[in-house]
Amino acid sequence: MKTPNDFVMGVATAAYQIEGTSFGKCGPSHWDSFAAKGGTFQGQNGDIACAHYEHWQSDLDLIQQGGFDAYRFSVAWPRILADGTGQVTPEGLDFYDRLVDGLLARGIAPHATLYHWDLPQALADHGGWENPDIAKWFTEYALTVTDRLGDRLESIATINEPWCVTWLSHFLGHHAPGKTDLPAASKTMHNVLYAHGLATQAMRDAGHKNLGIVLNMEYAQPASDKPADVKAAQLYDGIYNRWFIEAITKGRYPSDVLPYLEPHFPTSWQDQMPLIQTPIDWLGLNYYTRSIHADDGTGQFPFGKSVAGPLNKTSMGWEIYPDGLEYFLNRLHKDYTGDLPLFVTENGMALHDQISANGVDDTTRATYIQNHIQATLNARKNGVPVNGYFAWSVMDNFEWAFGYEERFGIVHVDFETQIRTPKSSHKMLQEINKNR
Ligand code: FCB
Repeated sequence: MKTPNDFVMGVATAAYQIEGTSFGKCGPSHWDSFAAKGGTFQGQNGDIACAHYEHWQSDLDLIQQGGFDAYRFSVAWPRILADGTGQVTPEGLDFYDRLVDGLLARGIAPHATLYHWDLPQALADHGGWENPDIAKWFTEYALTVTDRLGDRLESIATINEPWCVTWLSHFLGHHAPGKTDLPAASKTMHNVLYAHGLATQAMRDAGHKNLGIVLNMEYAQPASDKPADVKAAQLYDGIYNRWFIEAITKGRYPSDVLPYLEPHFPTSWQDQMPLIQTPIDWLGLNYYTRSIHADDGTGQFPFGKSVAGPLNKTSMGWEIYPDGLEYFLNRLHKDYTGDLPLFVTENGMALHDQISANGVDDTTRATYIQNHIQATLNARKNGVPVNGYFAWSVMDNFEWAFGYEERFGIVHVDFETQIRTPKSSHKMLQEINKNR
């Protein structure tokens, strides 16, 4: 497989999943609390994770050996502001300063995400994403980070996967803070976008460039052509795939979903829409799977449930469907983003890898990744301005509610010894990167 020379090939991680919060002077986050109250597999948490805080140099070497152009990492809010606002922890900024310089020294472009889910617990105690003040808190944090690193970052993303920050965490309850509450979820669905808009404008005013956001999308299909199943899939698509992009690019919310959420919104929400629509310079798309939806028989919003589909699945049960990636890139370009540059900022596969004397053979993952790169290149051929692909993830790490059970790395991590072993997918990507 050949990728174009000007097509960015990268890899991604997130702070809480790899760094180890017990290193440095990281403050507590709501993921620590969520794990402590049993929200994760066996109560596992990010205390140690991949101890990347200590091993960052050799981890960057692995990225360099893979021949990647770019690395997408996130900054841990509680490392920078232990209480969420106010006093800055210099050690936190120093860590990312070293990391960014370390990337540049290796010829790898640093792409930073400001929020990849590790909300300082002090802010969670004040209502977290449900509190409209989150926009102000997030902007203070965004300016603190970019003031120090902004001169050397290739791109800056405000928030990773607003759907997970809001719906998954406050309605479905699968992620911190683990709520199942429609009024709470509705508030977060607006506040997360306002926080993105306010911080984007503030960073733009401060002279920072190449600002964007990372959205995740999941191809939603009805289980049958019965109207109730079709409605379930359509609402799922509205909440997941249309809500955030419609607000950012058109300054409005999808009319099929809005009536269910609006009753819980802050009163002045409409005045905030222009700021939510503040221009961005690029959009990141995270894509993993498709899902099938059926009427759940409750007669209550959101009316649907996911049912198992027939396609091959990852170890997490996610159906493998590369066509969905091509579909979303085309759909974004045509319906929402026009000439705005797009990047696939995450894509990868969970597998229960086995390590042997010969290393780790993860041919299934390598094929998954290749097929999704191909889907991305197909969209690019059709005229979609998609300029890069970032594989998830550099190494096995803390997979949120699934703890260390689910492995997504192109490098294997032994969590007892912290020994890293590149898998065959790392080799495959190294070959692609070399043969450009
Ligand atoms: C995405 C997250 C990332 C990782 C992958 C598997 O939703 O952004 O942190 O957990 O899924």
